[in-house]
This record gives sequence, C-alpha cells and structure tokens, in this order.
Amino acid sequence: MTITVSAAEPTSELPISRDPLPGAPTAPATLEAIGISAWFGKRKVLERCSLLMEARKVTALIGPSGCGKSTFLRILNRMHEVIPGAMIAGGVELDGTDIYSGALSPTKVRTRIGMVFQKPNPFPSMTIRQNVLAGLRLSGVTNNDKDALVEESLRRAGLWNEVGDRLDEGGMALSGGQQQRLCIARALAVKPQVLLMDEPCSALDPISTRVVEETIGALADDVTIVIVTHNMQQAARVSDRCAFFLVEESGEPGRIVEEGPTAKMFDSPDDQRTLDYVTGRFG
Ligand SMILES: Nc1ncnc2c1ncn2[C@@H]1O[C@H](COP(=O)(O)OP(=O)(O)OP(=O)(O)O)[C@@H](O)[C@H]1O
Ligand SMILES: [Mg+2]
Repeated sequence: MTITVSAAEPTSELPISRDPLPGAPTAPATLEAIGISAWFGKRKVLERCSLLMEARKVTALIGPSGCGKSTFLRILNRMHEVIPGAMIAGGVELDGTDIYSGALSPTKVRTRIGMVFQKPNPFPSMTIRQNVLAGLRLSGVTNNDKDALVEESLRRAGLWNEVGDRLDEGGMALSGGQQQRLCIARALAVKPQVLLMDEPCSALDPISTRVVEETIGALADDVTIVIVTHNMQQAARVSDRCAFFLVEESGEPGRIVEEGPTAKMFDSPDDQRTLDYVTGRFG
C-alpha cells in the first residue's frame, strides 16, 4: 500500500468522537509503519522506513540529530501533515487499520495515539485537575466520573501521591519532572492505545528522569510506548526494542539502519554503524 497525503488537511472538525470511555483502559495496540518516506517541501527527510512497534512493548527510536526521529514519530499520529509543505508516502497501521485511510479521522487517530513532548507543556492557566481533563475536551471524548478519571490518570503517571491533595493548584506550580508526569497523565486520560514520547526527559534533572523512566516501565503493560531518546543508557533501561535511524551522507534522507531487541542492538548489532553509535563513537 502506498499513499500520499498532502499537508493541508483541515483539523477544524472538532469535536469528532462522543464515545463514552470504557472503565478499563483500551487495550494497547500494535503500530506498524510500512515504507514511510517523508518530505518538507522538496526535501526528502525519511526514506522507506518500516518498523513494527508491538503492543505492550517499549520501542526506542535512536540516532544522531537531524536523522528524522521526530518526523517519523509525528507521522505515527498524523501530526506531520499539519506542517505546511509536509508530505508522506507509505502507510501506518494501528492493529491493522490504516490510520491514513479515512476510516479514522485525524482527531480520532490522535486520541488513540497520544503524544508527550520534549518540554513539559501543561496549560498555564489551568489547575492540575483541569490539565488532566483538558485532552478530553479537545478530543471530544466524554466521561461522567471525572474525579475517578483524574485519580486514575495521575496514579498511572506516578504523580497521584505528590499532588492528590492539591488538585486545584495551578499546573505550573509543579517541578519540571512533575509537570512532565502531569502531561503524561493528560495524555493517558483519553485512554490512548499508544503513547508517543519525543525526548520526554531531555529537560529534566537526573532524579526526575528516573521517576519518568519508572513511570514508562509501569505503563508499558497497558499502553504501547514509542520513545525518542538521545540517552543511550535510557534506551537500554526503558526499551524492549530499538530502531537506529541514520543519515548516511549529508543532505540524504534518514533511514532505519537496523532495528531489533535492545539487548542485541547494544551488545551485538548486525551493522557496525549501530555499534559505533551505541558505544558513543559518533553522534
Ligand atoms: N518544520 C520543518 N520544516 C522543514 N524541515 C524540517 C522541519 N522539521 C524538521 N525538518 C528537517 O527534517 C530533518 C529531520 O528532522 P527531525 O526533527 O525529524 O530530526 P530528529 O532526528 O528528531 O533530530 P533531533 O535529534 O535533533 O531532534 C532535518 O533535516 C530537519 O532539518
Ligand atoms: Mg527530534
């Protein structure tokens, strides 16, 4: 299957879904990228990248700066196409459903496949509680027992014990690491099947980083996780599988050089360039 999607698809169709949330989290899903190529205008930045990101597993995307990891991640939940001039070819399947086929609206795709960004971005004018619930309103998903949902989301994000007694305080009053876990709670509140994380710890101190890593480990049982990281120790600690992206010659698009179980990628990868990268010889 090959499709091409233009950048200009409108996102003005909110709210899309009025589905009531089920009591239990939606089952994690397998995400598969099939021959993804990507362009910004005329410039091709990814070349035929295929990757299976299995349910209940943490997949880490690693590689030097500029090789297309963030672009690949944004394609996985239809956020690439909102950038003017951005194009893709190839396909992405969520448990076998093509997310670009029109069977799912872009909003529905982004509800099922959530995203946490590099810099914690709680909504500054909202309380902790309002922040957790903010995604519900944006995604159009409804839930009647909001108190229970707030508690469950904060517990899953590993933050409840620290903020459960001050839900009406502003989200910005939290530390950086707590803000990032608040953003994870916000992403979890809409019960995604997949959580994409783009360098979620790069703005955090080492202790907060470990807390977020522990949260990722605890979440992996009920949400599929794809994480971009520049920190090789972090990739080794949190991921089950790794995909190594590389631009071989300046100006060429990024490719997946190798992917596989994390232990193999670190100890005995098939490609010398993977070994050189994971052992810090370049990048
Ligand atoms: N909005 C954009 N417009 C044009 N080009 C872009 C845009 N975003 C990224 N690019 C280009 O696409 C290529 C891949 O960028 P991307 O951000 O995906 O890399 P990355 O692997 O995430 O890098 P880093 O590790 O530094 O975050 C780069 O050459 C970058 O300059
Ligand atoms: Mg990036």
